[in-house]
Amino acid sequence: DKGGHRHFMLKEIMDQPQAMTAALKDRADFANGRPADVMQLERVVLIGCGTSLHAAQVGRHYIERLAGIPAEAESASEFRYRDPIIGPRTLVVSIGQSGETADTVAAMHLAREKGATLITICNAEESQAARVADGALYMHAGLEVGVASTKTFVASLTILQLLSVYLAETTRRLVDQMARGPGLIGEVLAEANLYSSLARRIGHYDNFLFLGRGANAAIASEGALKLKEISYIHAEGYPAGEMKHGPIALIDPEMCTVALAPRDDLRDKTLSNIKEVKARGGLVVAVLTKGDDEAASEVDFPLFIPQAPDLLMPLVTTVPLQLLSYYIALLRGCDVDQPRNLAKSVTVE
Ligand code: F6R
Repeated sequence: DKGGHRHFMLKEIMDQPQAMTAALKDRADFANGRPADVMQLERVVLIGCGTSLHAAQVGRHYIERLAGIPAEAESASEFRYRDPIIGPRTLVVSIGQSGETADTVAAMHLAREKGATLITICNAEESQAARVADGALYMHAGLEVGVASTKTFVASLTILQLLSVYLAETTRRLVDQMARGPGLIGEVLAEANLYSSLARRIGHYDNFLFLGRGANAAIASEGALKLKEISYIHAEGYPAGEMKHGPIALIDPEMCTVALAPRDDLRDKTLSNIKEVKARGGLVVAVLTKGDDEAASEVDFPLFIPQAPDLLMPLVTTVPLQLLSYYIALLRGCDVDQPRNLAKSVTVE
């Protein structure tokens, strides 16, 4: 049931406030402070593929910032063929919508052999991942039909926030902040038609560069992945600080740059990158905090999002990129729910 929408993907984008609420439900007791066994953890390693890898990359920021535990994110397909140095004081967190991704499951087996504590964040219950892990944190996002992951990304980020809060020492305030997430996502969704008209202005570009810093660097990668998956447009996601080290050579009037520059401690840095792109004749779409007229005056198309606590920012910046991809794919006549060459669950490597 598409709930009155033309595609499952749009329905699933619109379902995200509920997906976040469902992921949070009855889990506030996560916030009761760091238990003794957690104190023994030396390191957290987050693994996944595709969109779930991007969730892992955001999760790494959460764990380091909130819990102060060294954390890293890696593609499960790389991790499984290294000889990673992990042991009983490593917590390995696998992320996956399906819980059946071959590389992710194989990476989990490797972590198990090496004696790590292993948990999985997945949507599908009774999946391979849930069987291999010591514990599963289910997303409860409901079935995701669109091949391109949307609401399960938001649900993964939500669970990663909860997990980071659980690993942290001071927590109550953070859980209160998280409760604002569904409403903030809803505010962006209420303006979905703006993205449809923007798609008509930029949907003919054949090259896109997505830029962000901090956790938003992972969201930039996710924005690029969504666009390439469903519209078949060449798109790259880059940490904005890497621009000068190569990608800036690509900038010309044929390149559309989508920059994530909401008001946070890195906004000024990203704004400098935006100016560099403009100076080279590139077109700039930027996701900005409402009221940031100074930044808006530097770009071709500002996309405003509500002010959000740092913790929630990656969830809020995700939504404009999903909507933009959706409407561009629609405009180009692509099969949004079943993009070519892709399968919902990648059970062979
Ligand atoms: C992106 C997408 C894929 C999956 C990847 C991992 O929209 O759908 O990149 O994210 O195949 O799948 P899971 O999360 O099931 O392990």
